Amino acid sequence: MYKLIIRPVFFCFNPEKAHHLTVSLVKIFFRIPFIKSLFRKIYCISDERLAINKAGIYFPNPVGLAAGFDKDAELYNDFDAFGFGFIEVGTVTPKAQDGNEKPRMFRLKEDQALINRMGFNNKGVNAMLLRLTRRKSDITIGGNIGKNKATPNEQAVDDYLICFKILRHQVDYFVVNVSSPNTPGLRALQDKEPLSRLLQQLQEENKKHVPIKPILLKIAPDLTEEQLVEIAEIVKECDLSGVVATNTTIDRSNLKSSETITTQAGGLSGKPLKEKANHVIHILRKNLGDEKIIIGVGGIFTAEDAIEKMKAGADVIQVYSGFIYEGPAMVKRINKAYLKWKTTM
Ligand code: FNR
Repeated sequence: MYKLIIRPVFFCFNPEKAHHLTVSLVKIFFRIPFIKSLFRKIYCISDERLAINKAGIYFPNPVGLAAGFDKDAELYNDFDAFGFGFIEVGTVTPKAQDGNEKPRMFRLKEDQALINRMGFNNKGVNAMLLRLTRRKSDITIGGNIGKNKATPNEQAVDDYLICFKILRHQVDYFVVNVSSPNTPGLRALQDKEPLSRLLQQLQEENKKHVPIKPILLKIAPDLTEEQLVEIAEIVKECDLSGVVATNTTIDRSNLKSSETITTQAGGLSGKPLKEKANHVIHILRKNLGDEKIIIGVGGIFTAEDAIEKMKAGADVIQVYSGFIYEGPAMVKRINKAYLKWKTTM
């Protein structure tokens, strides 16, 4: 039904319009009595063997919605009805900002991919706080935090601290996003010195309160093996709970879509990212050991893709592009495959 009817209709609109349409439709439909419970019946599996408890985070099941879809925490109360166990809201910044000029999101249908250069468009952390106080569902919530475009890197830590302090009682874990290619200079915060400084200051603030919040780092797929080893060391030194791997890539190799689209500036997600993200996860797991949590994301379209991520070292996974191309039924397919895989282990 999704691929036959819903997707062709959505794909008539430009990708950002289609996204807003989805948000509006979910908000309207889920207010109709019984619709949400009907969706739950179709898409959810209730089985306690799906639950994962690691590094201080409880996941009702291992399938999450990746950051960027629910940037302003408008949908999180409804998305458990699609079968998700967790959702990462954001990236949110201290002040509201418009992001880059439109168009800023492109479909690469032949490659089953997307390119986006949204640039952290969001309504600001205080607006998010207000929305998160209206939490009605049991879905686990990650808060993905970033810095405003106008904030120089030297003052970036202040932006992350503001978001952290404001959201600390509302989210179950934090993700420090230093890996978006769409905020100029942001990825430089992945370098050893600035990254250590940023994470140490966040943890200092975190440790002032009990219990401390799990903090994860979201990284780019375009790092060298040497950089990944260095980052794993920093994650351990700063006592982070783990890593989200990976964000979108700036690599454009082996694409089939037309050059007018593949040459658009921004981050590439979807199928072409899969192997790259798996490689990053594999290296991280080798260097992080078993204790840290890895949230695997990048190019998951099928249940097999999800299990591959777990075999590479991910504990739980997230989807974004795959959800757009495959529709919500993919979540249940992954949960079912995970149960089967777990019982054969
Ligand atoms: C993203 N992603 C993203 N990540 C993040 O940490 N903060 C963000 O604000 C966004 N925004 C965003 C917008 C759009 C339109 C896309 C397609 C992606 C990255 C996303 O969370 C994920 O890491 C990548 O998309 C890779 O996963 P998929 O799409 O291959 O499943």
